[in-house]
Amino acid sequence: MTFFLIFYYFFYSLAFILLFGLWLPCCLTQTTPSNSATPTPSPSPSPQPQTEKLKVRLAGYPRKHNEGRIELFYKGEWGTICDDDFSLANANVLCRQLGFVSATGWTHSAKYGKGQGKIWLDNVQCGGGEKSIELCKSRGWGNSDCTHDEDAGVVCKDERIPGFVDSNVIDNKIEEVRLRPVVAMAKKKMPITEGVVEVKYKDGWAQICDIGWTIKNTRVVCGMLGFPHERKVNKNFYKLYLERQKNYFHIHSVACLGTEVHLAACPLEFSKPNATSACTGGMPAVVSCMPGPLFMQNSGNFQERKINVRLKGGSRVGEGRVEVLKDNEWGTVCDDRWNLQSASVVCRELGFGSAKEALTGGRLGQGMGPIYMNEVKCVGQERSIWNCPFKNITMEDCQHMEDAAVRCNIPYMGLENTIRITGGRTRYEGRVEVLSLDSNGTQSWGLICGESWTTKEAMVACRQLGLGYANQGLQETWYWDSSNVTEMVMSGVKCTGSEMSLSQCQHHKTVSCQKAAAKFAAGVICSETASDLVLNASLVQQTVYIEDRPLHMLYCAAEEDCLSKSAAKANWPYGHRRLLRFSSQIHNIGRADFKPKAGRHSWVWHACHGHYHSMDIFTHYDLLNANGTKVAEGHKASFCLEDTDCQEGVSKRYECANFGDQGITVGCWDLYRHDIDCQWIDITDVKPGNYILQVVINPNYEVAESDFTNNAMKCNCKYDGHRIWLHNCHIGDAFSEEAERRFEKYPGQLNNRIS
Ligand SMILES: *[C@@H]1O[C@H](CO)[C@@H](O)[C@H](O)[C@H]1NC(C)=O
Ligand SMILES: *[C@@H]1O[C@H](CO)[C@@H](O)[C@H](O)[C@H]1NC(C)=O
Ligand SMILES: *[C@@H]1O[C@H](CO)[C@@H](O)[C@H](O)[C@H]1NC(C)=O
Ligand SMILES: *[C@@H]1O[C@H](CO)[C@@H](O)[C@H](O)[C@H]1NC(C)=O
Ligand SMILES: *[C@@H]1O[C@H](CO)[C@@H](O)[C@H](O)[C@H]1NC(C)=O
Ligand SMILES: *[C@@H]1O[C@H](CO)[C@@H](O)[C@H](O)[C@H]1NC(C)=O
Repeated sequence: MTFFLIFYYFFYSLAFILLFGLWLPCCLTQTTPSNSATPTPSPSPSPQPQTEKLKVRLAGYPRKHNEGRIELFYKGEWGTICDDDFSLANANVLCRQLGFVSATGWTHSAKYGKGQGKIWLDNVQCGGGEKSIELCKSRGWGNSDCTHDEDAGVVCKDERIPGFVDSNVIDNKIEEVRLRPVVAMAKKKMPITEGVVEVKYKDGWAQICDIGWTIKNTRVVCGMLGFPHERKVNKNFYKLYLERQKNYFHIHSVACLGTEVHLAACPLEFSKPNATSACTGGMPAVVSCMPGPLFMQNSGNFQERKINVRLKGGSRVGEGRVEVLKDNEWGTVCDDRWNLQSASVVCRELGFGSAKEALTGGRLGQGMGPIYMNEVKCVGQERSIWNCPFKNITMEDCQHMEDAAVRCNIPYMGLENTIRITGGRTRYEGRVEVLSLDSNGTQSWGLICGESWTTKEAMVACRQLGLGYANQGLQETWYWDSSNVTEMVMSGVKCTGSEMSLSQCQHHKTVSCQKAAAKFAAGVICSETASDLVLNASLVQQTVYIEDRPLHMLYCAAEEDCLSKSAAKANWPYGHRRLLRFSSQIHNIGRADFKPKAGRHSWVWHACHGHYHSMDIFTHYDLLNANGTKVAEGHKASFCLEDTDCQEGVSKRYECANFGDQGITVGCWDLYRHDIDCQWIDITDVKPGNYILQVVINPNYEVAESDFTNNAMKCNCKYDGHRIWLHNCHIGDAFSEEAERRFEKYPGQLNNRIS
């Protein structure tokens, strides 16, 4: 018999592959249920209603309490319904069975994730008035040619049938999961990595019965709580303790595969809360998780693994555009078929938990470089996104508008409890206050000295507050409400900008602030979105050349300080300056427009060039030698910002002319052609040799950006005294560390060869 079954199954699978293997790509991209692939069989007479009442439940993720994948309990087994021939009439019958007054819609193609086990019904055709789904026409129980990719779901009207009582319809949505550490162990160390699993239900928190509990379940719980890996736990230790406690079980028989991103996506059963007897012979499930390196207590011991995936442009830790490393250069992932399973592989690889969201359509900003992967289809167990099946891309397949992104689950660290902002006009701005302990051990809030407080420190404060990016870091805050100001308790704060909390930044041991009044306290304005400027590196490489420009054409440039110091000693108007010229195309690939910090009233009119300058220092152009010393006077360009052009579908908003509004719109760029005044480096005094050309945009972090690591653009630059060549032009964060080190060595190595 067994043999026959295996043989049958084998034959069935083979037939399936033969039938549908070639059809798959076409059919899966279809937006309507694919009932065209198979002829609808003439519906069999209704199956005999069971004497035992059929159980129906909603499952899957993400979903609300009144929607989900339909699962039926039949012959001791939960299974699903195929979407072929599905209709609103079917959904109405099912919703009423679930205790809702009616259906508002239905879903196909496993919208709430794929179910497991049997596909109980197929080609279901209800009239709409049936009391149970068993009474509708169908192919009969267990007779289906579908896969779980076609699981049907329903969306019910959120109104219960009055007086509806059904022991199977417990509101079984799992919203939140937490770990309760055992008291003796709870040293208030964050994050909490081990404890009793508790799920929230409408009356409080309850435990999960651990009978049949597996390490795969643990993996799912750890992922939800922001941890990449699971650990074995010493059950006996907990047993003694938990036996003495009163436990309330709400869930039992959890059977996750380990690839689910949420416990709600696993097969499980609900018991009535407070049914203490629901777990005879078992105890509350206890799990232990392994935090990622970012969240370890002593991350110093962590052995750095070579990571070839990263997140860019997110406003919070654990979110951003997905970028992958190939041939020493970073590129993006196209969003076709991008889902929570693939996103989770990225999240776990980076030391976070499973994915909370898999975002498509460049929602967290677009990349600039190559696009490497498309149709990534991870199962969820892979150690790296590179181990998942995917398709290579040619640029025509995908554009950066389709860049994939993720939001990962991260562990709760409680960092936002030790910082607050006060006095501002909105919840996104205010004076920064930190919680500190005095010598008596009492907690109190205090201000931070505004001296040396910059955008970098503000970035950390906003991150810690959970308010996104820093729009501005303020050194004076006198214009805000100061009715309840506290004392200054911190000074000399210095951050790199990537810390997760201010306590990780340097600061003075004792408070030392020259202007200690509250009006000089540090403040922040935070924002959910920010701009992100990036220079088009290949355009610089393509447009570079040398021009010997006569001095009589450079009066205006001299007035604007666009020449090196030695120009002052020249014999004006005779002679010339040697200029390294190139075009700059500055793209805003962020999520907010780039606008000058200074308001219109403080813009400076430049008569020579006939426009207003809105930023004193917008870019630095430098030529560096082997030890990083500037050999050509860094030209501090003072620019007029506008939208020169935009990508398809975006319209221009900013214009320099006529005292227009200045800025760069998201999706647009500002082009400084190689032939406009001051768009150069004065290399008159530079000797032949090999150098690095460096252009840095917004070098002083004057305007907020979501990412400052891509503000520098660098090229290898060879100058033989007559001509100039640029190669390897790239954005500061485009290369792997190894490739960047090789690049930086260039002037030293080759200078020797020339001399
Ligand atoms: C469960 O038991 C607790 C404590 O006995 C009680 O406060 C709570 O109301 C009960 N909940 C339900 C749903 O019966
Ligand atoms: C994708 O390209 C790489 C080389 O860049 C090649 O090794 C690989 O086989 C290609 N994969 C597919 C599916 O074409
Ligand atoms: C500590 O407590 C003592 C007595 O309660 C009090 O006099 C002292 O001012 C406190 N010190 C601080 C720093 O608050
Ligand atoms: C200042 O503190 C008082 C008392 O704690 C409070 O009533 C008042 O609302 C506070 N004012 C502001 C502006 O926060
Ligand atoms: C950068 O410049 C090159 C050369 O002109 C051009 O082909 C390319 O489209 C530009 N890149 C973007 C993102 O506009
Ligand atoms: C850097 O190199 C220049 C010459 O290329 C030399 O004059 C200078 O002393 C060097 N600086 C350092 C810090 O090595």
